[in-house]
Amino acid sequence: MTKSTSSTASKQLFYSVYDTIFAKKDYLAEVNSVLELGGIRSGTARILELGCGTGNHTRCFAGAGHSVVGIDPDEEMLTIARAKLTLLPRDIAGRINYQHGQVHDVPLATYDLATALFNVINYIASPAALEALMREVARRLKPGASFIFDVWNGNAALVDPPAGKSVTVETEHGRVKVELAARTDVVAKSTELTYSIEASDLRGNGLEQGKYTIWHFLWPPDVIVEAARAAGLEAKSVHPLFDVSRTANEHDWKLMFHFRKPVPDAL
Ligand SMILES: C[S@@+](CC[C@H](N)C(=O)[O-])C[C@H]1O[C@@H](n2cnc3c(N)ncnc32)[C@H](O)[C@@H]1O
Repeated sequence: MTKSTSSTASKQLFYSVYDTIFAKKDYLAEVNSVLELGGIRSGTARILELGCGTGNHTRCFAGAGHSVVGIDPDEEMLTIARAKLTLLPRDIAGRINYQHGQVHDVPLATYDLATALFNVINYIASPAALEALMREVARRLKPGASFIFDVWNGNAALVDPPAGKSVTVETEHGRVKVELAARTDVVAKSTELTYSIEASDLRGNGLEQGKYTIWHFLWPPDVIVEAARAAGLEAKSVHPLFDVSRTANEHDWKLMFHFRKPVPDAL
């Protein structure tokens, strides 16, 4: 039987299949490249993770021995992240603290690293909000500590807008088929991403269908750098996505930014 979903149910469906859709993402390699770029070697750092979602990077940071505060404004993502804590070894789960909200909701503390991974910065809808986010991150970093995130290259995305794609993933639990439609508005500098989802068991029974839409804002790199500079962060480097071996160029569609809170001059 086919179950067509309402928009609330569609959102639920998107959350329920999120980890399956992105199962091939190498979260551990991404975390390792962030730790390397941030100069975090020993496993005792305090990490602030913005937009932790269902906690896949979080668990890798904690697995490397670090303490992580993971925040997300989406309670439903956090519900999944919290449920997954019970599947982790107790010492790793004990290093993770999930908080609902945005960076300004996180109590002031000094972190060794802040990060926002998998397009979190593309969710920020205005230059003022971008600068406010940077400012709140900067307030929570130790002098010399880094803020590292990946983001679409807004300039490259406007020249070569993202195309739709179709993905089918099968696990022992069932089959998820996703048609992703992307519609870029060059004036609003944003891309509407609509996920049309079909989930069923492996025999096609219990079919659920739904559509879920999110928007990504296409930040030109100079706007990001200016927001960070205004917030008191210095630009250290910009790389292609999770490739710290070279500096990004204009063709790189996905970028990884490294900012640092300056160390005050010694007297
Ligand atoms: C594509 S998901 C990435 C989740 C997770 N980092 C991962 O890699 O699976 C983007 C996340 O950013 C969160 N988000 C959106 N706006 C945010 C904001 N202003 N501050 C922090 N997180 C935000 C969303 O709720 C969502 O969970």
